[in-house]
Amino acid sequence: MPVEISLTTKIAPGNSAGIAEAVRALQSREPVVVPTETVYGLGCNALDDQAVARVFAVKERPRFNPLIVHVRGWDHAMEYVEPNDHAAALAGKFWPGPLTLVLQRSANCPVSRLASAGLDTVAVRAPSHKIAQALIDASGFPISAPSANRSGRLSPTTAEAAFHELNGRVGLILDGGACQAGIESTIVGFESGAPVMLRPGAIAREEIEALSGPLVERSSSTVTAPGMMASHYAPRARLRLNATEIAPGEALLAFGDTTLSPGIICNLSPSGDVREAAANLFGMLHRLDDTGVGTIAVMPIPDTGLGEAINDRLRRAAAPRDTHHDWT
Ligand code: TXA
Ligand code: MG
Repeated sequence: MPVEISLTTKIAPGNSAGIAEAVRALQSREPVVVPTETVYGLGCNALDDQAVARVFAVKERPRFNPLIVHVRGWDHAMEYVEPNDHAAALAGKFWPGPLTLVLQRSANCPVSRLASAGLDTVAVRAPSHKIAQALIDASGFPISAPSANRSGRLSPTTAEAAFHELNGRVGLILDGGACQAGIESTIVGFESGAPVMLRPGAIAREEIEALSGPLVERSSSTVTAPGMMASHYAPRARLRLNATEIAPGEALLAFGDTTLSPGIICNLSPSGDVREAAANLFGMLHRLDDTGVGTIAVMPIPDTGLGEAINDRLRRAAAPRDTHHDWT
């Protein structure tokens, strides 16, 4: 499908008029940018192959990479997927919120096969953001929404960043302010009934394990989430991780208290709070990248709590370009 890049892109407030306009667009199979508590998503009717195809085209995303289906809650999810006990407990604790569950597609599941990329599983999540919830309610269908970036680029966490990504490619962006978490949802799948971490994200591993016991590591036979491929979230600048000093000409992405003071610096969290750092991550990477600097030095970030997701995204962003695949 050719990508139209000459649309007029409007940012509308996420009030009832904005929601009504978004519903009309979605009914016409036009993708709409929707705020969620994690990052902005590029939404469409998850039950409609043609609407989903447009999202892939706008994102320039490889067709085989499946999308998350956003629902209103557990009962709504059960219209599309098969439950299991772990999933029910996790959804009971973390929904609505930034947890995605990959579950078996139910018999006669109406979710677009394109949205789930032909897999026999569907990823479902009930967002806690009021505007996302209102849009699902008002449209009457579940909404497939990958992050609202072009494939291989940073996820937008403000309406302005989404505009920067998709100007001319979408008609409407609903403005829900800055995303509270600022990093994508944690994705949990199941292998022989045991929960498996597929993508670290806005809910820390420790919080999930407190409920479900230790998460099993993925076995090689698991269908790999294509979003787990080595490198995406790529800024233009090179990233140098675990930097304890800076070279001339480098910008610094700091964490915690630091005496380093290059010309260009953003601090993810001066107080060393990984939750605050996660919320700032993509916005600050964008800001540093937009200065045109060649290398961004990144201070070490602890691997605990949301640090695991932050370090995961940073490693992908830093992966060498010759192994670069743009997936999600
Ligand atoms: O926070 C989020 O999850 C955001 C907001 C908009 O909800 N969405 C998001 O979507 O990050 P996306 O498309 O950028 O990443 C979704 C990830 C991909 O890595 C994809 O491969 C994986 O979910 N995924 C989706 N369906 C799957 C399935 N059936 N099995 C395994 N992985 C799946
Ligand atoms: Mg993404």
